[in-house]
Amino acid sequence: MKIFIDTANLDQIKEAESLGILDGVTTNPSLMAKEGISGKEAIRNHYLQIAKMVEGDVSAEVFSEKFEDMVKEGEELASIKSNIVVKIPCTKDGIKAIKALKDKGIRTNCTLIFNIGQAMLAAKAGASYVSPFIGRLDDIGDDGVALIGDIVAIFKNYNVPTLVLAASIRNNLHLIQCMQVGADVATAPLAQILGLLKHPLTESGLKTFMEDASKMK
Ligand code: E4P
Repeated sequence: MKIFIDTANLDQIKEAESLGILDGVTTNPSLMAKEGISGKEAIRNHYLQIAKMVEGDVSAEVFSEKFEDMVKEGEELASIKSNIVVKIPCTKDGIKAIKALKDKGIRTNCTLIFNIGQAMLAAKAGASYVSPFIGRLDDIGDDGVALIGDIVAIFKNYNVPTLVLAASIRNNLHLIQCMQVGADVATAPLAQILGLLKHPLTESGLKTFMEDASKMK
C-alpha cells in the first residue's frame, strides 16, 4: 500500500519525506487555508514547492464547482508540474470535468466519495484515483473501512484501473485496516503515519538494550 501525507504544511511534508517511505501528498482547500496562503500566485507557488519536494503524486483540489471552471482550473493546476493530480469533487459537474480532463491527458483524483455508486461513476469517467472518506463516514455512524473494502473488491471484479485512495484517516488502526482490505493508497496526517512505529514493547525493549549496551562501553 502506498502512503501519502494529507497536509499542505511544508515542514510536515519534509519530515515525512525524510523517512524515505513517502509515496505522495494530498491537499484540499481546508488544508491549504490552514497554511494561511491566499492569492492565485501564492497558491500556485505553494503547490509547486510541494510538487518539488516529492517524487510521487500531489493532489491539488479545484476551488470551483462549475464544469467549465473546474476544467480550466484543472488545466492550470496540471501545468504546475507533471506529478500534480487534479482533485475534483464527486458531483455531476465534477464527473463531467474528470472525463474532459482525462480526454486532455490530465490525471484526476475524485474526492468526497461516500458510496460505491460515486466511486464507480468516477472510475467510469476516467479518474486515476477515487478518495472515499473513512473518518467522516465513521463520524455519522457508518463504516468507512468497509466502504474501502467494497470498492477495492468491486474494482477488482471489473478490472477497473482506478486506484482506491483511502482518505479522512483519523487513527493508526484506520491505516492498518486499509492494508487489510487492500486499499491501493492511504493518505494520513503525519501523526498517524508516525503512529505506525509506536509499540510499548519496542520502547521498553530498546530501553533495556540501551542500558545493557552502556554497560559494555
Ligand atoms: C484528503 O484527500 C481528504 O481531503 C482528507 O483526508 C479529509 O480528511 P478529514 O475528513 O479529516 O478532513
